[in-house]
Parts: sequence; structure tokens; C-alpha cells
Amino acid sequence: MPEHHRLAQSLSWPHLIALGVGAIVGTGILTLIGVGAGKAGPAVILSFAIAGVICACASLAYAEVATMIPASGSAYTYSYTVFGELIAWMVGVALILEYTLVVSAVAVGWSGYAAGFLNSIGMGLPLALVNGPELGGIINLPAIFIIVVVAGLLIAGTRESATLNAFLVIVKLLALALFIAVALPVFDASHFQPFMPYGFGKSGESGAEVGVMAAAAIIFFAFYGFDAIATAAEEAKNPSRDLAIGIVGSMLLCVLIYMAVAAAAIGALATTHFANSPEPLALILREIGQGWAAKILGASAVIALPTVILAFFYGQSRIFFTVARDGLLPAFLARVSSRGTPVRITIFTAIVTSVFAGLIPLDAIAALANAGTLAAFVAVCAAMLVLRVREPNRERKFRAPAAWLVGIVGILGCLYLFISLPQRTQIFFVAAQVIGLVLYAIYGHRAAEKARAAS
Ligand code: ALA
Repeated sequence: MPEHHRLAQSLSWPHLIALGVGAIVGTGILTLIGVGAGKAGPAVILSFAIAGVICACASLAYAEVATMIPASGSAYTYSYTVFGELIAWMVGVALILEYTLVVSAVAVGWSGYAAGFLNSIGMGLPLALVNGPELGGIINLPAIFIIVVVAGLLIAGTRESATLNAFLVIVKLLALALFIAVALPVFDASHFQPFMPYGFGKSGESGAEVGVMAAAAIIFFAFYGFDAIATAAEEAKNPSRDLAIGIVGSMLLCVLIYMAVAAAAIGALATTHFANSPEPLALILREIGQGWAAKILGASAVIALPTVILAFFYGQSRIFFTVARDGLLPAFLARVSSRGTPVRITIFTAIVTSVFAGLIPLDAIAALANAGTLAAFVAVCAAMLVLRVREPNRERKFRAPAAWLVGIVGILGCLYLFISLPQRTQIFFVAAQVIGLVLYAIYGHRAAEKARAAS
């Protein structure tokens, strides 16, 4: 591999766990818990458990495959190796959807908190500059601002960004710990009755998309992010050990934190009171008379949400980088600067994510991000099983326990969540794949052949 296409190896497992938790804990637990409560009532805690189990299966498959194929590019690279170029291209499209839309969605979420904060100190921005056209504004400037800041950090160098990230992850975890500590003393078990007011399956009586699974399909957003670690494989000091610890460790930690936060939230306030709130955890704290804690939680969200943007941005630029290196996107994008960071691809990613974040509302972005992620998870679980059959004796630094159970639960679980997503999201996802395949037929396939011939 030519030197200017190689990334610097500067990360060890504590960095990777911080990167994972930094990517996982974010808008999902802070905001989408309210959307989930609206769809499932108290059974949103069951939605958390279901999404968590499916993600845990996917994380085990990720850890096994990532340590066998430690190369930047995550599910795209695994699919390339196991299933060939066409499936890899489709997974690449799904991943690009996932990472782009998560960066954009969390930037919009951050913008909401930041705008609220500026208002509270008398420096509010005009509404037209904090909302995209669909919400009656012109452009969401704070969302673009935070994307530019994060892009700057990444261009400055991976190591520095990961260290800052670790500090901000601690802020975020302390804020959630504060929430649990303040909410638990007023725990009231009667808030869990009736437990499942909107049923289990997707459609409610009115045809609305409600129920435990519909909530799980949205709550799923809160759990992923550990796959961002796998995209850092080429930059890990000891990929085989560090990636497995980073992926499985950060996933399990987050499942525990979420179950505790969800239980404390429902116990403190009936779900009907915080369903669909744009800031449900802060609302709960205010409702139980702890306004001071609500302020701290809100401020922490503004400070710490950028860690989620950072991690997905990081993953996004590396996926673009890997796809470009394989010749499926223009090769000049894949060049690495003297600091070991892919500057051009980072700037390209910043432009694309800013367009979404500047113009499109949050809810429309998040569901589609989930669709892309679910597709990538199916591919990774399948890759693990295929490799077990095809190369049973190949060395595995990390072996997923009960691999067949884990792989099959992962695949079927992700498919069930996908069909539980809003129909509009499913149609958009299929449309994106069709556009991807047309691009592949016109450009990608030929360019990849050229890149192979040249290497
Ligand atoms: N899991 C990430 C979040 O909740 C995407 O924001």
C-alpha cells in the first residue's frame, strides 16, 4: 500500500471504548426515549431491551469479523472480502446513509440545545437561522457550525480528537448518573401500569405506527455507534485485542446505562407526560421539582453531544476513504496528509452532512439512519457465519460465543426492526439502494477494475 494511503496507528483500547461510548450515548437516550414512550408507553423499557439484545448480537459479530479483517471501512470492507464487490457497494451505500444521517441528525439535535442556551442568555438567533425550510426557516446554522468544528478537530489529528472525546464522554456519563441519582428517590412502580397500552406489533387501531416493536425500531438509534470503532481498525495499535475489547465493552456498558436511565425515567414520571418531548430527561427533572439538575443535564448535552458527531464523522470519513481507495469513488479523495489524516475526505464529508443538517428536520433523518445501520448489521452477521463455514480453521483473535445463535438472532432481529420502521423510511431506503446500483453500473464497477489493474 503506498505510504500516503496509510493511516497513522495511534489508538489503544481505552481510546476505542471512549470512542464507542462517545458514539453510542447521545440523541437516542436524551431525546428518542420520548418518541419511544409515545409509541410504546412504559413498555418502552422492553423496546430498549429488544433493541439492546439485537445490537449486542451484532456487536459480537462485529468484534469477530473486525479482528479477522482489521481494515478501515467496517461492514463495507467485510462485505467486500466475504461477498464481493456488488454486495460491498450496497453495504457501502447503507453505511454512507447511516453515518451521514447520524452526523446530521445529532448536529440538528445539538442545534436545538445550543439555540435554547443562547436564548437563555439573551443572545437568541432568529428562528429562520435555526430551522430548515420544512420547519419554516431558511437554514440551521448552529448545526452547520458544530459540523465544521468537528471536521476541524479531525483534520488536526486523530489522537488529539480521541483524547478530547474521552473527556467529553465523562461529562456525558456524569450527567446521566446525575439523572438517575435525582430521579430514583421518587420512583413509583404504579407508572409501569398499564404496561403495554399500544400493543406489541407495528400498527395501532388507527393505523398509526405504534407498539413495542415500532418503538424498538426507533430506539435502535440509541444503541449503535460501536461499529464506529471498527472503522478505526487501521489506526488501532493492537487491532486484534483492542477492537474486541472496545466494541463489546462499550456496547455492554451502554445497555446497562440505558436500562437504568429508562427505569428511573418511567418510575419518576408517567410516560404520557414526557412522550414526544424534545428534551424528555430535562422535562422529567423539572416536573419532579429538580430544575437545577435539568439545567446541568441540558448544559452537559450541549457540551457532550459533539462526541457522537465526532465518532460518526470519524467513521464516515474512513468509509469514504476506504471506498475511494478501492476505486469506487474518485481516488484523489483518499490521499492522507502529512499528519496521517484524510483531509480531503473529511472536508467532503463535512459538506455533505452540512447540507442535510442545514435543511432537513431531525425526525426525518433518524429513521433513515436506522435503516442503513440495520442493513449493515445484517451483512456483518452474515459475513461472520459465512466465514465460519468457509474458513473454519482460520485464526480468530476474538470468537463470538454461540456464534450461530448470535448470528441468526442478529440477522432476524435486524430484519424485524427494519419492517417495524415507518413505511416511508423503507421506501426511501430502497430508493437509495436503486440509485446506488445505477451509479455502480455507470461508474463504480469500471473504476474499481481500473484501480485493481493499477495496484
Ligand atoms: N447512538 C447514537 C445516539 O443515540 C447514534 O445518538
